[in-house]
Amino acid sequence: MTRFDRKYLEVGRSALPRPSGPGGKSDASRKTSGVRLRSMRESDLSQVVKIEKRINPFPWTACFFRSCLRTGTAGWVWEQDDAIQGFGVMALRQGRAHILNLCMRPESQGRGLGGKMLTHMLLRARRRGARIALLEVRPSNEPALRLYRRRGFAKVGIRKGYYLTRRSHEDALIMARTLYGSRFADIPRSRRTSPVSDQGS
Ligand SMILES: CC(C)(COP(=O)(O)OP(=O)(O)OC[C@H]1O[C@@H](n2cnc3c(N)ncnc32)[C@H](O)[C@@H]1OP(=O)(O)O)[C@@H](O)C(=O)NCCC(=O)NCCS
Repeated sequence: MTRFDRKYLEVGRSALPRPSGPGGKSDASRKTSGVRLRSMRESDLSQVVKIEKRINPFPWTACFFRSCLRTGTAGWVWEQDDAIQGFGVMALRQGRAHILNLCMRPESQGRGLGGKMLTHMLLRARRRGARIALLEVRPSNEPALRLYRRRGFAKVGIRKGYYLTRRSHEDALIMARTLYGSRFADIPRSRRTSPVSDQGS
């Protein structure tokens, strides 16, 4: 265990939810108010990039998303009537889950989709053996900070000049949490279910 791992293990000790349904798995086709969570496909990327461009001043390109998907980085989308409402991207390496992107289209924000996507990624990471989850976030991004804190993340450091801005660079907060434990006190009861099972996602 590295010095950084020890530091991460000191924070975000609140535990994760158990998936619901028979055998501890929830129904893969389960819908949340007509919205379905499923794995991201390359055919989703034109819609995904459109959302990314609306949200991020320095958006990821289709090429970048594609190379993530082709090199084992996992992505999921919320889909409603063939329209992508939001997406999440996570890399798993050496027992660490790195949340690389989490983005809901503006019209779909505040519906609980971002929170459920994050919960899904954390549960997936834990099932795949990750012990720690980490992410970067702009210190000015209040909605995201609030979401991450509610999901048990705590600040563990700063990455200097991590984000490009129109004028120069902005620091990122590094946040982390552990992925083990038997209670789930940090997430509201209504959000304790992973929206999808391991199958098909
Ligand atoms: C951050 C983001 C993913 C949250 O997704 P969302 O679907 O809008 O959020 P949810 O409806 O699931 O709400 C989750 C939590 O976020 C917080 N939140 C959401 N919108 C908020 C707002 N406008 N102001 C303050 N808090 C907000 C709420 O506290 C909520 O907490 P709760 O779980 O206690 O109710 C979404 O706002 C988004 O895509 N933002 C732009 C991209 C971005 O900033 N991504 C994060 C990069 S690190």
